[in-house]
Amino acid sequence: MANKHSINFSTHVAAGLLCAGMISSVAQADEGSEPELLETMSMLQTMTHKSSLAIDHKNSGLLDFYAHELEEYIEKAESIESSDGKPIGQLVKGMLAPKFKAFKSAAEGSDWKSISSSFDSMIDSCNSCHQATGYNFINIKRTDKNPYMQSFESDN
Ligand code: HEC
Repeated sequence: MANKHSINFSTHVAAGLLCAGMISSVAQADEGSEPELLETMSMLQTMTHKSSLAIDHKNSGLLDFYAHELEEYIEKAESIESSDGKPIGQLVKGMLAPKFKAFKSAAEGSDWKSISSSFDSMIDSCNSCHQATGYNFINIKRTDKNPYMQSFESDN
């Protein structure tokens, strides 16, 4: 009997600790991920812009490089569990990742029309997620302006 009691007691304590742990880890994820989310978004924007310029110049080597960079930042965004109560990782996996995959496989070929249109669909998914998370005022739009001290021509 004494044994049964102590088992019950420790089960309760363990469950209590588990709950406390879960609550504090969710709170930590929320607190910790906001600057990380903003930095990741900012890098996604840069890599998307640079990919766009590489597409404009039909520069396969450079596009391949930026597609890999994009992939890494998308993985980083997938690892952000939540921010401001929004399930970031899940949304990135459901909305952006499939569109990125389609773009990446198009980019492995040389049909620039389909590369460009799959890239446009990927950008649409960026904006769909901004709408889904209440950031509809963040509207990503392709531009052919090159603000970088870098040439996107393919023959250099
Ligand atoms: C989870 C859905 C989601 C997806 C997918 C997503 N974003 Fe975001 N984005 C957000 C949220 C949420 C914020 C606001 C972040 C904050 O509160 O700090 C944001 C903010 C931004 C910002 C503002 C930060 C800045 O530096 O101005 C940019 C730019 C941005 N996203 C670009 C992109 C691009 C480009 C893509 C697609 C390649 C993308 N986002 C995909 C949710 C998403």
